Amino acid sequence: MEEKIKQFKKLSEEAELGGGLERIKKQHNAGKLTARERIDKLLDKGTFVELDKFVMHRCTNFDMQKTKILGDGVVTGYGKVNGRTVFVFSQDFTVFGGSLSEMFAKKICKVMDLAVEVGAPVVGLNDSGGARIQEGVMSLAGYAEIFLRNSLSSGVVPQISAIMGPCAGGAVYSPALTDFVFMVKETSYMFITGPEVVKTVTSEDVTKEELGGAMTHNSKSGVAHFAAENDEDCLLRIRELINFLPQNNMEDPPIAPTKDDPNRTDDSLNKLVPENPNQPYDMAEIIEKVVDDGNFFEVQEHYAKNIIIGFARLNGKTIGVVANQPQVMAGALDMDSSIKGARFVRFCDAFNIPLLTFVDVPGFMPGVQQEYGGIIKHGAKLLYAYCEATVPKVTVITRKAYGGAYDVLSSKHIRGDINYAYPTAEIAVMGPDGAVQILYRKKIAEAKDPDAMKKKMTDEYRERFANPYRAAELGYIDEVILPEDTRPRLIQAYELLNNKRQTNPPKKHDNLPL
Ligand code: HXC
Repeated sequence: MEEKIKQFKKLSEEAELGGGLERIKKQHNAGKLTARERIDKLLDKGTFVELDKFVMHRCTNFDMQKTKILGDGVVTGYGKVNGRTVFVFSQDFTVFGGSLSEMFAKKICKVMDLAVEVGAPVVGLNDSGGARIQEGVMSLAGYAEIFLRNSLSSGVVPQISAIMGPCAGGAVYSPALTDFVFMVKETSYMFITGPEVVKTVTSEDVTKEELGGAMTHNSKSGVAHFAAENDEDCLLRIRELINFLPQNNMEDPPIAPTKDDPNRTDDSLNKLVPENPNQPYDMAEIIEKVVDDGNFFEVQEHYAKNIIIGFARLNGKTIGVVANQPQVMAGALDMDSSIKGARFVRFCDAFNIPLLTFVDVPGFMPGVQQEYGGIIKHGAKLLYAYCEATVPKVTVITRKAYGGAYDVLSSKHIRGDINYAYPTAEIAVMGPDGAVQILYRKKIAEAKDPDAMKKKMTDEYRERFANPYRAAELGYIDEVILPEDTRPRLIQAYELLNNKRQTNPPKKHDNLPL
C-alpha cells in the first residue's frame, strides 16, 4: 500500500507541474499566472476538486506518443465561489502551448455536461495556441463538441469566459458563444487570423494588441464585456459577477443582505435632471444613488457608452439595469447600443433577473451610416428582447422618451409591469424643435417674425407634450414619482412583482431579427 500511495503522490505531483518548472517560469515572466494558480484565485480557498488529472492524449502523429503529459494541457473540475458550486476549465499554456487535443476537449466537455446536469455555472479560462496541430481534424472535432455544448447550455447555466493569453482562429467561437467575456489587458488577444495573415490578405499593418487586444474588443468590437488589469483582477471580477447570478435558469438570483435602508430617500436626486432639456447629466449617478450601497457592476463600460448596462441589487435582490446615458450622443439609440442592450436584456430574462430601465432617449440615431449598417434590424433586436422578456420589468422615465425609442424601452405596451415617470419626463412622438419644424413650417415661414413664431409654437408644444401627464392620463405611466423617492418606490415595485409569472406562446424557438 505504501508503494501505491507513493506512486499516486508522484503522479499527482507530476500532473500538477504541467509543462515543467522552466515553462512555468516563462509563464510568470510573461506576467501570467499558471492554470492552477488561476483556479486557486477564482475559487474559495481549498474547494477545488480536480477531475481527469491523469488524462493524456492518444496521438501518435509526429512521434507524439513520446511526449505525453498528465492532464494534457487543461485543468478541469469544480469548486465554490462564495459557497456556491462553479465548474471550471483552465487551459495550461505550459503544456503544448495550451493547444486543444481530442482528450483536452473531452475533459472540457465532461465538466460542461456535469454543469448542465447539476445546474451550475461554467467558467472557462482560455490561454491556448488553438487547435493542436499534430492532431489535425480530431482537434477540430473537439472544438465543435465544445461549441455544441456552449450553444445547448446557453440560457440553462451561466457561461463565463476569460481570455488570459492567446485565443485565435475558430477557438474564439467558444468564448463568443458564452454569456460574458473577460479579457486581460496586454496579455490576451482574440482574433480569427493574426497580423501576418491580415497583412497578406488585406495589406493592413496592425499589431496583435490593436487587432485583438483587450481594449480593442472592449471598446471597438464589443466582443468582450470586461477589461481586467491583470490575471488576479480578472478572476476577482469573475467572482463578483457570479455573486449576482443564479446558478441556473430554474433558480432565482441569490439574495445579498444589505444594511442599506429600503426606505432611504435622496433629496439630491430632485436636482440631478437639469431643467434645460438639452443639458446632459450622468445617468450612472442616478443608478448609484438608488441601488444598494451604491454598488453598480457595470457590463461593457467601454462600449456603446450611450447605453449603460449592468447588475445591481435592490434590498438584496439582483436586478439588471439598462439606462440611456444622456452624456453620450444625448442618449440616442444607435446600432451598437441596441445590440448591447438587447443581449443584456435577453441574458437577464433567461436567468430570472428582473429588469430596471431608466429612460432618457431622444430617439434612434439618424444618419446614412446607421441606416446602411442596419439600425432597423439592430433596433428591432432591442425591441424584440424587451417584448419577449417575462421577468419583472420596471421603468423610470427621467426625461425624454421620444418616438419609437419610447415604445422600445420597456414601455407599458410591451408588458412593462410598473412604469414610473419623474415630473421632468417628456413623452412625445418627437422633441419640440423637430415637431414644430414639421407641423408649422409654413406658418413660421409666413410669419412677420419667424423666430418669435417658432418660439411661440415650440413653447406651446412643450407645454402640451413635454410632460408626463398626457401619458399618465391614458394609464401608460402608472405613477409620476418624485426623484427622491426612487429607491423606495422601486423596491416596493419589485416586492409586488416577486411572484410574477408570465409565459410566451409555445414555439420551437423564436426568430430574433439577427
Ligand atoms: C501544437 C503548439 C500550438 C498548436 C503552440 N504550440 N501552439 N503545439 N499546436 N496549435 C506549442 C509550441 O510548439 C511550443 O512548444 C509551445 O506550444 C509554446 O509555443 P511558443 O510558440 O513557443 O510560444 P509563444 O512564442 O508565446 O507563441 C504563442 C503562439 C504561437 C502565438 C500561440 O505558439 C502560435 O502562433 N501558435 C500557433 C497558433 C495557431 O495558428 N493555432 C492554430 C489556430 S487555428 P515547445 O515544445 O517548443 O515549447 C485554430 C483552429 C480552431 O485553432 C478551429 C476551431 C473550429
